[in-house]
Amino acid sequence: MNTLALAINGAGDNWAPAPWQARFSERLPGWRVAFADEAALDPATVRYAAVWKPKPGQLEKFARLAAIFNLGAGVDALMGDTTLPDVPLVRVVDPDLTHRMTEYVVLHTLLHHRRQRTLDAAQAERRWAAKDQWAASAVRVGIMGLGELGRDAAEVLGRIGFRVAGWSRKPKRVPGFETYSGIGGLTTFLARTDILVVLLPLTSDTRGILNDALFSRLGRGGVLGAPVLINAGRGGLQVEADILAALDDGRLGAATLDVFETEPLPVASALWSHPRVTITPHNAADSDPDAIAAYVARQILAHEQGGALSNVVDRKRGY
Ligand code: NDP
Ligand code: OXD
Repeated sequence: MNTLALAINGAGDNWAPAPWQARFSERLPGWRVAFADEAALDPATVRYAAVWKPKPGQLEKFARLAAIFNLGAGVDALMGDTTLPDVPLVRVVDPDLTHRMTEYVVLHTLLHHRRQRTLDAAQAERRWAAKDQWAASAVRVGIMGLGELGRDAAEVLGRIGFRVAGWSRKPKRVPGFETYSGIGGLTTFLARTDILVVLLPLTSDTRGILNDALFSRLGRGGVLGAPVLINAGRGGLQVEADILAALDDGRLGAATLDVFETEPLPVASALWSHPRVTITPHNAADSDPDAIAAYVARQILAHEQGGALSNVVDRKRGY
């Protein structure tokens, strides 16, 4: 009997392994769904693996593997594992996940644009502190990463009226907003950006990109007073000491961070209590486990019939 092996090591209810086994068993009748480390599992029966943060070396013994399914969008947790079998690696692209991320980006862009944190502080002091408003069209949003998530967020922000631009690795033409690409396009992109939204994957090229030098190149003179950072990509993209320094010397006005160098964010981190930092616990866009299980099962069944896999990661590029 063919086996789907599960290697799921995430934190939180969504990543409890037993419900994943039940979801896949229901959707793959006639298949065995087993945990990768089960002593009774014969590695030669394993055709596919479904993983989230697998331990390095956990999949090495599966010599008949046809593909690996990452149960999330970002694959950075797998890229450093030199023992990962050299088979197609498929990631999640799912409209529900994309829409949840767009909700997050819109929520936090509006939070800064409408100065909601300042109003919250005034409310806590019972102070009637009306502030002048400006139009969304006065605010320049720059999105780093114009992939599945970045493009959707850009379109919705554009409809609200923000002046949106995007930055990607390769040049792109997207009707309705400005686009920049590569290192050559970065300086102009940053200089025209008041709210920087980061939806990049973590790769060897992007690690630590949100640093001192980048913050110094962000736009000045915008209506917000100082640029704002929203990072929902990965914590490894940011240098947290540089974010704190830029907040303190005025190069950044505020930050919303969903992802961190170390997760969970350590209790001792100065980010927790910084008055201009909004923290969310890496939940910008949870995946719906039933939708993800259905997506993976559909691909397995189609692939067994000779169909092509979708959303295969380019392992050289790292995303
Ligand atoms: P995609 O692969 O669809 O898009 C990635 C984008 O980043 C592409 O536009 C790509 O450029 C660009 N990019 C990659 N490397 C570079 C580089 N060196 N310079 C400039 N641009 C670059 O990914 P998704 O949109 O699906 O997801 C993005 C990330 O969001 C995931 O990798 C994950 O880390 C994170 N994520 C976070 C979640 C959360 O809850 N916080 C939930 C889900 C995902 P190009 O178009 O030229 O290839
Ligand atoms: C993902 C995530 O990559 O949840 O899907 O971070």
